[in-house]
Amino acid sequence: MIKLHGLHFDEFISEDKLKQAIEEVANKINADYDGKEPLFLVVLNGAFKFATELLSRFNGNCEIEFLKLSSYDGTSSTGEVMTHIPIDADLEDREVIIIEDIVDSGNTIEKLTEMMVSGGVKNYRFASLFFKPEAYSKEYKIHYVGLEIPNDFIVGYGLDYNGLGRNLNAIYKLKTTKMTNLVLFGPPGAGKGTQASFLKEKYNLIHISTGDVFRYNIKNATELGMLAKSYMDKGQLVPDTVTIDMLSAEVDKNADANGFIFDGFPRTIAQAEALDALLSDKNTQVSAMIALEVDDEILVQRLLERGKTSGRKDDADETVIRKRIKVYYDETAILKGYYQKQDKYFGVDGVGEVTEITDRLSKTIDTL
Ligand code: IMP
Ligand code: MG
Repeated sequence: MIKLHGLHFDEFISEDKLKQAIEEVANKINADYDGKEPLFLVVLNGAFKFATELLSRFNGNCEIEFLKLSSYDGTSSTGEVMTHIPIDADLEDREVIIIEDIVDSGNTIEKLTEMMVSGGVKNYRFASLFFKPEAYSKEYKIHYVGLEIPNDFIVGYGLDYNGLGRNLNAIYKLKTTKMTNLVLFGPPGAGKGTQASFLKEKYNLIHISTGDVFRYNIKNATELGMLAKSYMDKGQLVPDTVTIDMLSAEVDKNADANGFIFDGFPRTIAQAEALDALLSDKNTQVSAMIALEVDDEILVQRLLERGKTSGRKDDADETVIRKRIKVYYDETAILKGYYQKQDKYFGVDGVGEVTEITDRLSKTIDTL
């Protein structure tokens, strides 16, 4: 796995397989252009590596020229093909082979076709290392294709993601394994902690409790921890941006995880939106908000029981307990609506044996 600009890519096509595909393209071109003196036109930047390999296998005499086009921004096509370096060669009556890295929508091929026609070439053909048939929407023939690939974003072997990855000797594909990212909710006494630890084991998820993350950062005096502390010392709320940066660091630390359980966050719509943005930056998203549902009276009884043995003051006083439960419902109500709109809210009955409740949660998670 490699990481470029915070996104993860897995190896998809090995260098050997690429060399073999190039060899086959070279054999065909050698057969078709035997005794001719073609002009190879290399489309920069992406095709430099393919061109180097291909041309080193060309048997006859040839000329090599370059032009530079671009039509991509990040991982998606902009639809507009721009010329950064124009063709600096007389094309009149030449037999031209255009060397491309990849044919996606075909917009670049269309632009190149216009250039060939207006340049008055004798004939022209396209040689592309990769071709995405599912994305191609044009009719122009691509005469030589190294490998047909699915409509996924790839990097390496000349191809880039926002400028990075061209030097890689294999092809890598954007990691698309679906993560399970849960926002776990439950009133005090619902057994959230217990269930989180089961789910974490069962699904190999990382449990991110905002409280723990705060304590960790402050204890270790990280830059963000110190920043958070400076607000807390003044009796102010820590701004969402600081919390989000801490969570982001936590997510990055565990980039290989199957997903995350967010506990104690988000609490507001603004935070929910910030979490969406954070996860979307990492090419994933919230899968579900899961709320453990337990009747108030049962919660009060459970917490009073717990208070007797744990000595926690906030578990001893019924008025305090009821207040905490009310705060929970006020907060949850807002977020319930937010996630319901996206069909991501799941209420799960939190009354019964611990294993029963885990089973109910698992049934929900397995449908995601
Ligand atoms: P088209 O004009 O949509 O066919 O796109 C062609 C250009 O888009 C290529 O020359 C690349 O620069 C870029 N491109 C298309 N697909 C990918 C990809 O999966 N990874 C990296 N660049 C790509
Ligand atoms: Mg290109």
